[in-house]
Amino acid sequence: MGIRPQSGARSRRTAALLSSGLLLASVLASFVLIGNFPSELAEAAGPTGPNPPLGIHLSYLDDPTTAVVTWQTASPATSRADWGTSSGGSYPFSSSGVDYASPMGTFLHAVTLSNLIPSSRYYYRVGDASMNSSYGEASFRAAPPKGSTETFSFAAAGDWGNSQATADTSNAIKAVDPNLVLPLGDLYYSPNETIVKQIFQKWQAFGQSSFVEPALGNHEHPSTQMWHTAEDIHCAFVNLPGNERTYAFTFGNTLFLSIDWGLWSNNTSDGVDGTGTSCGGVSGTAAIRSWVDARLAAANLDPNITWKVVFQHFQCYDMTTVNYFPMCPSAGHPLDQMEDILTNRGVDLVLQAHEHTYSRSHPVKFHNVVQNGSAYDTPGAPVYFVLGTGGDPRTATCRNDSWVAVCRAPTKTRVRYAGGSDLLRPRDRRGSADGHVPERFVGRGLPGPDEDDGVRTLHGLADDDPI
Ligand SMILES: [Fe+2]
Repeated sequence: MGIRPQSGARSRRTAALLSSGLLLASVLASFVLIGNFPSELAEAAGPTGPNPPLGIHLSYLDDPTTAVVTWQTASPATSRADWGTSSGGSYPFSSSGVDYASPMGTFLHAVTLSNLIPSSRYYYRVGDASMNSSYGEASFRAAPPKGSTETFSFAAAGDWGNSQATADTSNAIKAVDPNLVLPLGDLYYSPNETIVKQIFQKWQAFGQSSFVEPALGNHEHPSTQMWHTAEDIHCAFVNLPGNERTYAFTFGNTLFLSIDWGLWSNNTSDGVDGTGTSCGGVSGTAAIRSWVDARLAAANLDPNITWKVVFQHFQCYDMTTVNYFPMCPSAGHPLDQMEDILTNRGVDLVLQAHEHTYSRSHPVKFHNVVQNGSAYDTPGAPVYFVLGTGGDPRTATCRNDSWVAVCRAPTKTRVRYAGGSDLLRPRDRRGSADGHVPERFVGRGLPGPDEDDGVRTLHGLADDDPI
């Protein structure tokens, strides 16, 4: 496991333990919510000193006994983190970090917090070696053991940019305090690192207490258009497993796999597979397919993994009529770059963005609806989300197809999903007029404490009130 700019292998999964159990995943399409923060989020202090840490975010390198904290400073600095399991300044553990520069000269720092007890809450501060400038106290929950049946949560949204809406979405995610945040590509929309820095400063709202594991979008690739960010700038600001572009990690009993398909969804020579070191990989759809298929096949043999979630920028299924060139075959776009793999390997959820709307499909396989009730019961086909509402929600016309379960594109509201009301929380019903809608999923694993019939179910919950 390494932190940029150190090279070398990053550790992969380790096997062991028992299978499955309970997964609670909050899939959050940004929404307006000002709530009472959990007490553990009432973190004291903040930045102090002349050159304080900024843009602080955690990342998970596929090892629940470690966490990486990354931040930026305005001028050169050393780095150090102090941490422990008690709040208030007694930190029995401390480590220095790696100090490095991004391609355009941002001063970046990363410290690995090690020997963590999985699932335990930790309190920490970061700063220079003497703590003359520092940030703290913040806290987070270490990742659960692999194969654990305990509940965890995640939030996902794509298409961010640097706006007030980005800050609002970041604060809304912080309010639900997820364990993981999955930004779904099109993160920065700028070649200027000043913008990248400012976005990470907005993300700090959740990044200081959640593991931030982004996917790359088309706007994270060089282009003659000036609102694109080079891959190596992105890779400098994140610290992720593998090559940081196409990668996978196991969090509890769930495999998360992110794919960088490159600048164009219909170009079969761009994007990268999951090999190589930071920002590396072999280009092209054939290599990507081979790597993804092998990784999912291995997951199916891993007793630690019950659920498989793919998160990426481009869409396989679009619940609106916008019809960007999809990764899965559809009318006028016969090329299948991944749907055969997703269905063959039993992927449960596919989180997508690119289009700035919110929607969800029923479990669907080559446009055939497999189930359309309130329970996801081993259907052998994924549920697809579009969650492109991180910073700039827009309008679109919803499709009439039977596989459309929920579509919140504001020009035409269609809600064809029913059920699950027993699991809805009151605040989940609060969808704002601009189409921000949260959803929650509860999955029951192969047989666990709540389920003894061996049936894998995923209850999809939706606010079925029209906006
Ligand atoms: Fe995009």
